[in-house]
Amino acid sequence: MLATAPIVRALRAAHLHDAPRVELLRLACEKIRALGAPYTSVYAYMVHGDELVLEAFSGRETEHTRIPMGRGVCGTAVATGRDQNVADVAAVGNYLACNLETKSELVVLIRRGRTILGQLDVDSDLPAGFTVKHHQAVKAVADALAVLL
Ligand code: SME
Repeated sequence: MLATAPIVRALRAAHLHDAPRVELLRLACEKIRALGAPYTSVYAYMVHGDELVLEAFSGRETEHTRIPMGRGVCGTAVATGRDQNVADVAAVGNYLACNLETKSELVVLIRRGRTILGQLDVDSDLPAGFTVKHHQAVKAVADALAVLL
C-alpha cells in the first residue's frame, strides 16, 4: 500500500463534505508534509492562463507565488507535460531557488485527461530525496485531486 492511501481517503471525505478547492489543496500539502522526510515542503501550483499560481502550501514560505510557464522546474513540468524528479537542484540551470536548504525536488502534474490543472511541487532537504516509490505516492494524491477539484 502507498503511504499516501490515507491521504487520498481524507481528500475524498473532505470533498463529500463540500470542502472548497483551496481546502482540498491545503489538506493535500499538509498531509504529504506530515509524512516527514523526505517531504520538507509541499506546494500546490495551479495553472492560470500562462502562469502557475501558488494556491496552497505547507512548510517554508516561498517568494515564487507566480511562475511563468516554462520557467524553473515547475514551469518546465507544465511546458514539457512531464513530471520532474530532480536529484540535485544545484545541477539544474533554470532552478528557481526558494532557500538554501532544499537539495532535491519532485514535481508531479495534476492531470485531468489531456488537461494539466496544476502540480504538486515537493522540496526535500535530502539530496536525491525522492525514489520511484515517493513519486508514485505523490502521484496518487495528484490523481485524486484531478478528480475532486
Ligand atoms: N524550485 C521551483 C520553484 C518553486 S519553489 O521550490 C517553492 C522551481 O524551480 O520551479
